[in-house]
Amino acid sequence: MCYCNCTKGIEMSSFKAFKFLKSILLAIYTITFISFPHISTANELQTTNISHILFGMAGSLKTWSNRSHYSELWWKPNVTRGFVWMDDTPLGMWPETFPPYKVSADTSRFKYTSWYGSRSAVRITRIVKESFELGLENVRWFVMGDDDTVFFTDNLVTVLAKYDHNQMYYIGGNSESVEQDVIYSYSTAFGGGGFAISYPLAAELVRILDGCIDRYAILYGGDQKIQACISEIGVPITREFGFHQVDIRGNIYGFLAAHPVAPLVSLHHVDYLKSIFPNLTRIDSFRKLFMAYEMDPSRILQQSFCYDFQRKWSVSVSWGYTVQLYPSLLTVKQLETAFLTFQTWGSLSNGPFTFNTRPMSSDSDMSPVVYFLDRVERLGEGNTTTTYRRYTPSLAVQFVNVSAFNFSPDLWRKVSKCFTQFLLVSCHS
Ligand SMILES: *[C@@H]1O[C@H](CO)[C@@H](O)[C@H](O)[C@H]1NC(C)=O
Ligand SMILES: *[C@@H]1O[C@H](CO)[C@@H](O)[C@H](O)[C@H]1NC(C)=O
Ligand SMILES: *[C@@H]1O[C@H](CO)[C@@H](O)[C@H](O)[C@H]1NC(C)=O
Ligand SMILES: *[C@@H]1O[C@H](CO)[C@@H](O)[C@H](O)[C@H]1NC(C)=O
Ligand SMILES: *[C@@H]1O[C@H](CO)[C@@H](O)[C@H](O)[C@H]1NC(C)=O
Ligand SMILES: *[C@@H]1O[C@H](CO)[C@@H](O)[C@H](O)[C@H]1NC(C)=O
Repeated sequence: MCYCNCTKGIEMSSFKAFKFLKSILLAIYTITFISFPHISTANELQTTNISHILFGMAGSLKTWSNRSHYSELWWKPNVTRGFVWMDDTPLGMWPETFPPYKVSADTSRFKYTSWYGSRSAVRITRIVKESFELGLENVRWFVMGDDDTVFFTDNLVTVLAKYDHNQMYYIGGNSESVEQDVIYSYSTAFGGGGFAISYPLAAELVRILDGCIDRYAILYGGDQKIQACISEIGVPITREFGFHQVDIRGNIYGFLAAHPVAPLVSLHHVDYLKSIFPNLTRIDSFRKLFMAYEMDPSRILQQSFCYDFQRKWSVSVSWGYTVQLYPSLLTVKQLETAFLTFQTWGSLSNGPFTFNTRPMSSDSDMSPVVYFLDRVERLGEGNTTTTYRRYTPSLAVQFVNVSAFNFSPDLWRKVSKCFTQFLLVSCHS
């Protein structure tokens, strides 16, 4: 059995043997601090909650029967508000557990000239307008997504609550594959990862949208057309690192094991990936991730590191998903770099991506023993134990238990405290 304290950052006491780490950690701290946007003062009285968001998902009769399972992971009837926008009226029953649907208006009068795209992009572009024109009350944010986007709504609320919804904001993320950003623009909040438009920006966008759609007839995707129209209004993208387009093929493991320090907001393209847990189907593997997410939404996939200096072990925890145990002392910088277990979206190559990667190594010091989430338990108020089971053979340690305080969403606003959260890790044969 072994114990060690885990920290992502400022908690220095256990790092005495690793003096040089300090500067790295402080650097991470500084960068993160600067990148946090100013916190709104206007809505302090009423913090943004889930009821202030109106979702608009791009659906179609052809894809829905397959993808409705994914919406059931995150859609909470009578809690989440919004619609899946269909290309035609669905036949048969529409279960209460599904997001309600609306049928999009006809768009045949609009121009669409992308030779490799599909006209449905025009319909999808107009979802924000059709959603706005429903005139629903108390909407602060319009959040767009695809029918294969999985949202982590608690974290979406945490992220949006940082911004003043009375100002014009366009919030989302880029593609992970640089080749995609080059084609579809770094200024675009990619639609599959989902993006949020504040009410005042939506009001302005809706005013110009129909004319704008014809001006940008050549653009392939709805998300690109939206970006082009928003750029005419003069509003830039605000990037948030928890929106994931997942323009990644193959095994997303390396990415999820080294998630950026940001609340996990969305995952897309869930049907294109290898199942994220071994031995489970795709949908069951997401259900498993949601089990942990629901116990401690802010902490899901947050990476922490710890060291056992006697045994010379390094441990990386991606909370609620995986643990990696290395029989050597690696730096935080090494551990926070994603293993390249996947390929780019279009050309299926090894990069480049918009984040750094490291190759899977055959050097045994550099290749970890991998554990996957087995169980999640709540130990009293605000404290969980997650148990991870060994996947790769070798090494006597078969289970790793991680004990953690619940990660309060407020910590995302108080960066200096954010990193002093510590976990207790124990390893068992
Ligand atoms: C969200 O905030 C509104 C105030 O704008 C409040 O009326 C409502 O009860 C809150 N809903 C939830 C789910 O907290
Ligand atoms: C949904 O589509 C994916 C990818 O095309 C396929 O692998 C999967 O089996 C489908 N699921 C169902 C329930 O049809
Ligand atoms: C949602 O609310 C309606 C009206 O209050 C109620 O009839 C319905 O059963 C609720 N649905 C669910 C799934 O809770
Ligand atoms: C996966 O299944 C195999 C064979 O059924 C089993 O030996 C292995 O322990 C399972 N792995 C995990 C991580 O559950
Ligand atoms: C590890 O955690 C599980 C709960 O998930 C618990 O049953 C088990 O006793 C723990 N092991 C140790 C040695 O603490
Ligand atoms: C959580 O509670 C358990 C049992 O009371 C305790 O052993 C553990 O130290 C606590 N974890 C943290 C991170 O405080």
